[in-house]
Amino acid sequence: MRRFAGRLLLTSAVLACAGCRSEGGQSALDAHGSQAHTLLRLMSAFTWVCGAVFALVVLVLAASLFRRRLTLEPPSRPDARSQRRSTVAVSSAVGATVVIIVGLTLLSFVATRGLTADERNALVVRLRGYQWWWEFTYLDGRPSDTITTANELHIPVGRPVRILLEAPDVIHSFWVPSLAGKKDLIPGRDNEITITAELPGVYRGQCAEYCGLQHAHMALLVVADPPDLFATWQAAQRRPGAEPANREAAEGRRVFLSKPCAACHTIQGTPAAGTLGPDLTHVASRQFIAAGELPTTRGSLAAWIADPQTIKPGNNMPMVPLSGGELRAVSAYMASLR
Ligand code: CUA
Repeated sequence: MRRFAGRLLLTSAVLACAGCRSEGGQSALDAHGSQAHTLLRLMSAFTWVCGAVFALVVLVLAASLFRRRLTLEPPSRPDARSQRRSTVAVSSAVGATVVIIVGLTLLSFVATRGLTADERNALVVRLRGYQWWWEFTYLDGRPSDTITTANELHIPVGRPVRILLEAPDVIHSFWVPSLAGKKDLIPGRDNEITITAELPGVYRGQCAEYCGLQHAHMALLVVADPPDLFATWQAAQRRPGAEPANREAAEGRRVFLSKPCAACHTIQGTPAAGTLGPDLTHVASRQFIAAGELPTTRGSLAAWIADPQTIKPGNNMPMVPLSGGELRAVSAYMASLR
């Protein structure tokens, strides 16, 4: 008995530490978006109702076992009274089950219908999931105002954002637990999800569908800013890549444009217009590179360019042979692209 109690205590402690984190940038229990709040309410209702039913069943079971143990003689033939009693008990249990199931189904229907409500004044962003990074393209305004960025979605607080989900390679799943539920990006199929941040903040998201070797390293950030700050960010992102401020960065740009880098990446304002890898026009303005792998610093940019396959094995970026001087110059140029 003592051993059992010890094990129970240990299991509870492990569960408490591992799974029940309720705060932080990536938790469905720490809702900061209207869709996440709807889901949290639904989840709480299900948990409380099912928990109460479970507790009731356990109590009834325990009571009946306890009573059976007290009466030593075999049960006598059921009389009319006890038969009537069991009929009433079984019918009430069946009735309660039907009411609870119908109630929860209706609750679920109403809640999930609200998640896909038509949002008129929404900001429209196309999200493409690649192995293993995210590409965001802002589709509002004129075509010349289109912004393309990677792994970091900036949104205005209080305004719904309609995210059109596309997957050019395999199935991925967009999940930012503090803001909304999870939705898959499926090749050949149009999906979409709406998120509305209620409070400013940085919310972490994660690909939630196994998509290959680096699935676990496919993170993203959603940065929710007040509308004026968002407008400032948007205006900055619409500008072409910064001109090199010194000789080293200028040399870095020359190396970048003369090597295969420009075939895969775009830097607005330069001839680099590749679309296979992330748009690098403002790469240094993002908090992380390689979908959450490394914080954006000149050192981590240099490490990534020098050997992307050691940092994230299996990703599509090849190792481009560069001399030490070229690597320093390219990383200086990248770090200047704010
Ligand atoms: Cu993309 Cu898992």
